[in-house]
Amino acid sequence: MTASTPHLEPVWLRRHADVMAAALDHETFSSAVSEHLNVPNGMDGAEHCRYRAVVDKFMNPERSAALEPQCRQVARELLAGVADGVSVDVVGGFGRGFAVRAQSRWLGWPAELEQPLLQWMEDNHAATRSGELDQTTAIAQRFDKIITDLVNARRMGRIGGRGVPVDPTDELAHDFVGDVPLLLSEIVSILRNWTAGDLGTISRCMGSIVNHLAQHPELQADMRRRIDDEPYVNAAIDEMLRIDNPFLSNRRIATRDVEVGGVSIRKGQRVYLDWVSANRDPAVFGDPDGFRPEENAPNNLVYGIGKHVCPGRTLATMELRSATTELLAATTLIEPAEGAENVRETHPLAGFRSLHVVLHKR
Ligand code: HEM
Repeated sequence: MTASTPHLEPVWLRRHADVMAAALDHETFSSAVSEHLNVPNGMDGAEHCRYRAVVDKFMNPERSAALEPQCRQVARELLAGVADGVSVDVVGGFGRGFAVRAQSRWLGWPAELEQPLLQWMEDNHAATRSGELDQTTAIAQRFDKIITDLVNARRMGRIGGRGVPVDPTDELAHDFVGDVPLLLSEIVSILRNWTAGDLGTISRCMGSIVNHLAQHPELQADMRRRIDDEPYVNAAIDEMLRIDNPFLSNRRIATRDVEVGGVSIRKGQRVYLDWVSANRDPAVFGDPDGFRPEENAPNNLVYGIGKHVCPGRTLATMELRSATTELLAATTLIEPAEGAENVRETHPLAGFRSLHVVLHKR
């Protein structure tokens, strides 16, 4: 890890060109920003490549496709419990419920864990918002305990562990990096990143998507007509997320003195890549609110860029497509809930904390 320079304020890169430049210059902008083990997010160079290969195989298109029927089933179950014409919070209610159940089905985690995981996510977000490092560390430890128990059950053969993995948690619990078995601490770190990537982000993504749809009934109608057109639906979802990106930023640390977009950055200085601002940079997108999926796709940074580009993209897109199209199929119209108090997330999170809409059911 490059030692950070304590007296220097962190630099926020917000322009599209500057964020791209830093995200693609892995030598100058190191991801090793914390002393805590963070696999593979906080790794650089050859070490990052070795661990990234472990993670990538769990999220390939074939595996995501195999999981899709279960994700659709989860969305349908949740929607069946929603009455016609009432106000629903699609982030705190539907989104969170969908994210935790879809993730549990993917990883083979028991239904009893849904509540503790939702509580953990809530506390983790509160700690992140507060910026209190001690609080964040304590919450990470609480999560590690939940995950360690799950992994140990597989490592000790109480669940699976007999050659053919019974679920991805079992597979990871017996996985290798090269020829070396993964350490328990590494497995826990990988699972923590998957959970953080999945639970909070997916539910906030649902807020951005459903808000856009509720504000644009003509787009809803178009998507209902083309509900089975996967490339069209995926592109529409990516573009709604570009317009209102719920994933604010990632950190780097400069390994040398460097200048980016006229800003001098010193060796050891912390740098934030602001994906939200970059994705709304008028120099690249013109009117940032303009919905132009095809035109804007090549510059869309919702899932990052460079060696750390999100490995969960295919999985996340499948989950979001499942939830969105099931929502559209179950309704004739999604409308903003008049008078409801919708809460926006605050720094360092983005997107909605709650978003209320009325579902007019079919
Ligand atoms: C819609 C939801 C998601 C969004 C917007 C998102 C966004 C991102 C972004 C911007 C990065 C780049 C980080 C960087 O450059 O430092 C990233 C990395 C990562 N994401 Fe996601 N992500 C999402 C879902 C997921 C899911 C579902 C998973 C796993 C289950 C996941 C796991 C990861 C991991 C492990 C990394 C670090 C990769 C590395 O360092 O090589 N993400 N994500």
